[in-house]
Amino acid sequence: MTLSVDKGLGNTIAADTQLSFIDGAKGVLEYVGFDIDSLARNSTFEETTWLLWNGRLPIARELADFSKQLQAEYEIDPRMMDVLRSIPRTASPMDALRTLVSALAHFDVEADDPSPAANQRKALRLVAKTPTLIANFNRWRKGKPIVSPDSTLTLAQNFLWMLTGALPTAAMSRALDVCLVLHADHGLNASTFAARVTISTQSDMYSAATSAVGTLKGPLHGGANQEVMEMLLEIGQLDKVDEYIKSKLARKERIMGFGHRVYKAYDPRATYLKTFAKQVASDTGNLPLYEMTRRIEEIVLAQPNIIEKGIFPNVDFYSATTYYSLGLDLDLFTCMFAASRMSGWTGHCIEQLAANKLIRPHADYTGPHGLVYQPVDQRSKPTTSSTSPSVKGTMSVTA
Ligand code: ACO
Repeated sequence: MTLSVDKGLGNTIAADTQLSFIDGAKGVLEYVGFDIDSLARNSTFEETTWLLWNGRLPIARELADFSKQLQAEYEIDPRMMDVLRSIPRTASPMDALRTLVSALAHFDVEADDPSPAANQRKALRLVAKTPTLIANFNRWRKGKPIVSPDSTLTLAQNFLWMLTGALPTAAMSRALDVCLVLHADHGLNASTFAARVTISTQSDMYSAATSAVGTLKGPLHGGANQEVMEMLLEIGQLDKVDEYIKSKLARKERIMGFGHRVYKAYDPRATYLKTFAKQVASDTGNLPLYEMTRRIEEIVLAQPNIIEKGIFPNVDFYSATTYYSLGLDLDLFTCMFAASRMSGWTGHCIEQLAANKLIRPHADYTGPHGLVYQPVDQRSKPTTSSTSPSVKGTMSVTA
């Protein structure tokens, strides 16, 4: 067997999928053959989730039934609130979500039932309950009373209702719904890969979703949207953009919300969101923030070699101002991404299990061989550092 090293796995195909297709060179994203732009314009999160899970668009009755099934699962077990209240109020919502998604398993009698039917029900519960977990934690950490889910509302409407305690306008729930559609799936991205690795061991759906939430949290993945907003607030105003971005680039620092492992053309999700974010910002009095993003884009894309390197705005760049315009706290942005991607994660888990093979790549061992074991009382303090990174960074419990 010949093995080749592929750090970051950028040249490795590790799964077959029928959920989404990406052409990174041309900037194309399709869910089950439907262009993302047409779904963002015409579909809803409920319909898109059904599409991802069933491989076709639902007929009206199927969509109505599915929406009702989701609504019936918005509520969480009351004992989940004990778990939630045991999390420090200072915890980041993504950390809290990781704990809470994991805890859902304790209150689902089907948690360890591996049958396809039970897995589909768990997927539905995860998608329906994730907004409730996020909203409840957010209100609890702020000392506000919990707002129970309203099972007459769509998932996006209900999410905003539980977060704010007020019924959102049609424009607000549409804005969130569009973001949910755009983030629902994206090939074998890092968090989906984590979910598939976990489920490939024949672990359970909640464990896979927990792995995925933890993976999404990182700033190189889902955490970038929050960092984009922090950057905009730090810059503060349009006439400070040029100096801030140019000096960041001169220091060879990355601009958050730009670049993508797969897209070397404009991220198609950003194409739609760019126009949409402008409207949402304008409706909510946040146009100056949007104008700052446009200026940042102009400066970054004017840099020498940047287009040759395939650096363009990604979905996080324009979702940041959209979430901000909806009045969401910055540290909830990545949670919004998680609430949406839950549909993709669970869809991928079901797909993985349908033709499962344990995902277990190799590591290229770069450490020493043939060392002679010395009893602990005969070891002297090393004088030279080893070439092995794990040895160089020796752990100390007293440090
Ligand atoms: N700003 C400036 N330059 C960048 C950026 C950026 N955001 N991203 C990549 N580059 C440059 C690198 O400096 C590098 O230049 P060099 O060849 O001169 O050294 C080149 O582009 C390639 O960079 P890599 O890190 O090799 O590209 P990779 O595909 O591994 O990285 C990543 C992709 C991690 C997303 C990267 O573009 C990045 O850090 N972006 C900022 C974080 C971000 O926005 N993440 C969200 C991704 S989208 C999502 O998860 C929904």
